[in-house]
Amino acid sequence: MSLVRPNVDRIAGYVPGEQPQEGGWVKLNTNENPYPPSPRVVEAIERAARGRLNVYPDPVATAFRRAVGELFDVDPDWVLPANGSDENLTILLRTFVDPGELASFPYPSYILYETLADLQGARHERLLLREDWSWDVAGARETIDRSKLLFVPNPNSPSGNRWDDETICALIPPQGLLVLDEAYGDFADQPHRMELLKGDFGRRIIVTRTLSKSYSLAGLRLGFAVAHPQHIAAMRKVKDSYNCDTLALAAGTAAIDDQQWMLDNAAKICATRSRLSNCLKQLGFDVVDSQANFVWTTHAEREHADLYEALKSQKILVRFMQFPDVDVDGLRITVGTDDEIDRLLEALSGIL
Ligand SMILES: Cc1ncc(COP(=O)(O)O)c(C=O)c1O
Repeated sequence: MSLVRPNVDRIAGYVPGEQPQEGGWVKLNTNENPYPPSPRVVEAIERAARGRLNVYPDPVATAFRRAVGELFDVDPDWVLPANGSDENLTILLRTFVDPGELASFPYPSYILYETLADLQGARHERLLLREDWSWDVAGARETIDRSKLLFVPNPNSPSGNRWDDETICALIPPQGLLVLDEAYGDFADQPHRMELLKGDFGRRIIVTRTLSKSYSLAGLRLGFAVAHPQHIAAMRKVKDSYNCDTLALAAGTAAIDDQQWMLDNAAKICATRSRLSNCLKQLGFDVVDSQANFVWTTHAEREHADLYEALKSQKILVRFMQFPDVDVDGLRITVGTDDEIDRLLEALSGIL
């Protein structure tokens, strides 16, 4: 007899991308930023480490929320930091979705939404995207109308495409909230849509963002949600008292304060992304137009699993992803440095 809660017992659990611990890999599988964080971040961590680590961190993250508030021109009461954006996704489900209520999300998209809904005991439904990764809003309507939370990653993962405001607003559940997951927003032509929070639908949208990608801080674990203070106050009741540690908050505040560093790295990544996309097309791949720090690519004649294995044997890691129920599979390739992308392209042309 299992003593584990049935909700936990019956799911496989989320499997994150491989994180080899030894060096020598070209690692293009988990959408990390290939460039280091701002030197100001490192200084802030050193300063904080010499400071008062014997006491608990600021439970309401005053300085970090102020920095985010200034950046997006909102009051700090609109901001909730978390131990990575993933923690905010958990907090959202625990705050707004009772067991048995419905959470929905596009499919294929970020697989974790489904796992977290299962863990909460929520029901979930997948909203199938069209083959070109566009929304069938009319087809999704009936599910949206019953949803308490609808998660929409924009840009989407694994495809990297981005949906416009009109589509996003049409997706807002009439009896619930839309979570606009902007994990990859800083790599898009329109980096964020905080304006939506100030418009007619403002109370129906919660934006989540992360410092893991554009700010090069995946190892730190820091993200934040931005929403109407009523929603944020409710979420604050659910979070752990000290969900973000002193070092992460100091580093995150310094990172937000050094916008130029982040923007310069994002611009480099976007330039490499165009080059990678063009070169993959020349090698015979189809590539979705990406607004993120990765590209989704497929090859009509080659098995994607074989390509993944062949690259791995040369110590180049990309993400092979499959969604068998909708007959979708392909490679998601993170945009690395120019040197890393050169190695990848050279290896691929050899393999092909
Ligand atoms: C769409 C999406 N949302 C959220 C996250 C999680 O970000 P974090 O590292 O802040 O937990 C990821 C990470 O890969 C992601 O792809």
